[in-house]
Amino acid sequence: MTHVPYPIELVRQQFPALRRTHNGKPVAYFDGPGGSQVVATCIEAMADYMRKGGANLHGPFPSSLETEAHIHDAKQAMADLLNVDPSEIAFGANATTLLFHVARALGRDWKPGDEIVVTELDHRGNVDPWITLAKDQGVTVRWLKVDTESFTLDLSELDSIINEKTKLVAVGLASNAVGTISDVAKVSARARQVGALVAVDAVQAVAHVSVDFQALGADILTCSAYKFFGPHIGIVAIRSELFEQLDVYKLVPAPAHAPDKLETGTLNHEGIAGIRPAVEFIAALGAGATRRERIISGYERLEEHETRLADKLRASLAAMPRVKLYQAPSDIRKTPTVALTVKGMAPAEVCRRVVDASSVFIADGNFYAWTLAEKLGINPTGAWVRAGLSPYNSEEEVDRFIAAMRRVVQ
Ligand SMILES: Cc1ncc(COP(=O)(O)O)c(C=O)c1O
Repeated sequence: MTHVPYPIELVRQQFPALRRTHNGKPVAYFDGPGGSQVVATCIEAMADYMRKGGANLHGPFPSSLETEAHIHDAKQAMADLLNVDPSEIAFGANATTLLFHVARALGRDWKPGDEIVVTELDHRGNVDPWITLAKDQGVTVRWLKVDTESFTLDLSELDSIINEKTKLVAVGLASNAVGTISDVAKVSARARQVGALVAVDAVQAVAHVSVDFQALGADILTCSAYKFFGPHIGIVAIRSELFEQLDVYKLVPAPAHAPDKLETGTLNHEGIAGIRPAVEFIAALGAGATRRERIISGYERLEEHETRLADKLRASLAAMPRVKLYQAPSDIRKTPTVALTVKGMAPAEVCRRVVDASSVFIADGNFYAWTLAEKLGINPTGAWVRAGLSPYNSEEEVDRFIAAMRRVVQ
């Protein structure tokens, strides 16, 4: 098979935000883990929805019917993206809010003696919704530990931490701080043995690697379209048998069936109109007979591009004096997300200098990977600088960032 080069220029043309300049230079967005830029077709679909006249649901007139069609299309697209049925998809404000909502429903019958499992590697968005409910219900919380040398989950005690008392295991697919992709299938296989549910946080992963709800053994999976080139909308997929039983907090006259029962109030219709184009952007990078096949193949291409650039970035940073990288060993699959500190300089100061000198937008902080930062003892010093790559980042941008970092550490 001949290798087709990644169409970087074609990809870049599809992101209008790349035309922005700062200090006379084109902006390079390395803040993708915080939120990606938005693909032009998505922006156009959202504007078009509002220009043509939006509406609420269930009206016997075109704009209402079109709104329902957008929701239908967006759910089909998300179903292809995650390998679920469209009826298993619900939309909401963001992943965090949806998970609080799901947790409150799911935990209603948890009782003292029950246990749940969360991880030290996760963003707190897949920790606090569960441990808050656990506190309310008197349920014991157990933690899967992170190894602070390898930045991977320590699964050596998996069989005792997940046991017959476990009701739910919450685990992240990709770390938003250090990029480690965890072996979720292994965790969920153990959960299955004891009859526990598995909630997978795929918020970071979906921007970089193909996600398969079934292969992961998920019962609940969250992601957010603003991380994968779309609008600010949270998405949750819930296995249908579980979804049907879920006793959610809802208004009495609102639909009682899945998935609508979880979608409290009126949804972000204009945002929803932008979801299908965001998914189509990934699919259009790939080849195949079905959209799911094109999505998988599209991810392969973007992962190859991002990994090549991330490898260069990591190797250059690792060679710099005063720079400490927080990353898993080279044989561990990662997203192109690089967390670092510079000895003797606060992360916020590093970012400010890089932004000023090179117009590469990078961010600092603990990014709510709070437990990991706490364990490393770096919360008081401002935690990390995080440089995250996206499909629209180019080699020139990576080189520009490397040059800026060299100046910072000199
Ligand atoms: C891994 C991870 N989980 C959860 C969240 C929270 O997502 P949302 O902003 O949609 O609530 C984020 C946001 O950065 C994240 O990176």
